[in-house]
Amino acid sequence: MSNKNKNQNKEEVFLDQTLRPTEWDEYVGQKHVKDNLRILLSAAAERGEPAEHVLFYGPPGLGKTTLAHLVAREANRPIRITSGPAVERVGDLASILTNLSPGDILFIDEVHRLPKTVEEILYPAMESGKLDIIIGKGPSARTIQLDLPPFTLIAATTRVAMISSPLRSRFGGGVFRLEFYTEKELEKILERSARLLNTHLEKGAVEEIARRSRFTPRAANFLLKRCRDFAQVEKRVIDHNTVRVALEMLQIDELGLSAADRKFLEILMRKFGGGPVGLKTMAAATSEEEATLEEVVEPYLIQLGLLERTPRGRVATTLAFKHLNIEPPKNLQNKLIS
Ligand SMILES: Nc1ncnc2c1ncn2[C@@H]1O[C@H](COP(=O)(O)OP(=O)(O)O)[C@@H](O)[C@H]1O
Ligand SMILES: [Mg+2]
Repeated sequence: MSNKNKNQNKEEVFLDQTLRPTEWDEYVGQKHVKDNLRILLSAAAERGEPAEHVLFYGPPGLGKTTLAHLVAREANRPIRITSGPAVERVGDLASILTNLSPGDILFIDEVHRLPKTVEEILYPAMESGKLDIIIGKGPSARTIQLDLPPFTLIAATTRVAMISSPLRSRFGGGVFRLEFYTEKELEKILERSARLLNTHLEKGAVEEIARRSRFTPRAANFLLKRCRDFAQVEKRVIDHNTVRVALEMLQIDELGLSAADRKFLEILMRKFGGGPVGLKTMAAATSEEEATLEEVVEPYLIQLGLLERTPRGRVATTLAFKHLNIEPPKNLQNKLIS
């Protein structure tokens, strides 16, 4: 990872923590998820049981971690946080699970990256609160079963397709897909963030940032911070024009496309005549990781109607050719229909 990316991540982590909503009312949008969660939580509270296990999925920055914290807050229980890549061995998960207190919330981020062996001991733990562990090696090895305190697992993933179906089925009705945000919702989020950062935004500025935020709260907050830095150094108020200049410096265009997004589309259009092209080929041609393309770049391009995923591969739409001012091939429509 380049240095620039590292800094950006550090800044984003800081922003995430400072701007993360701590009340349900501050959590904008995702009404469907919120409504269902509240029913699930009140039902559990009425029964005096821990809430059912839940899985949140969707692109990065849409509010999955935030929801996990809100659920813990609503249940009034501490949240233990770990992630798929952090739990390397069966023993790691066993130690986390046996250290829970009754009713605790366990949050496993990037759950698609849990090793298979670890995932397998998670099933009985989720289903019946049992932990099967093998003690010893070879012929003298034996399995013992421990009773775990009742707990609620909250899992999050950006790649739901990578969740095995046995794991997925253990979440029952508690599987929630987070949606992209509308511009209006992002404006609300930006107004709150600006207040927390003690920054004044003119009306036109809020709209302009919202429009270019990839329909994603984290991106909106990040752009807000960059505009604020720019305005401070240049001694300007943050109005529509300041936002335009600041985002131009970041190479973010009117649709909110970054340089990487445009490079993806340009390669798809110039090198492959608009497609169809497989993900692997696109990853090699753009020098990006497949996961980054699939989780970050493509969902936004698809949402904007610039890209389609067809059974034969990725295809740029007429709109994409228009946006980048490239002449589309004559047979483009056929490619899209296939
Ligand atoms: N619904 C929301 N309302 C307000 N702010 C949000 C919302 N969802 C996310 N955010 C903001 O975006 C940041 C990133 O959200 P996060 O929950 O970390 O996303 P994810 O875990 O899905 O990557 C949060 O810290 C918060 O500032
Ligand atoms: Mg997260």
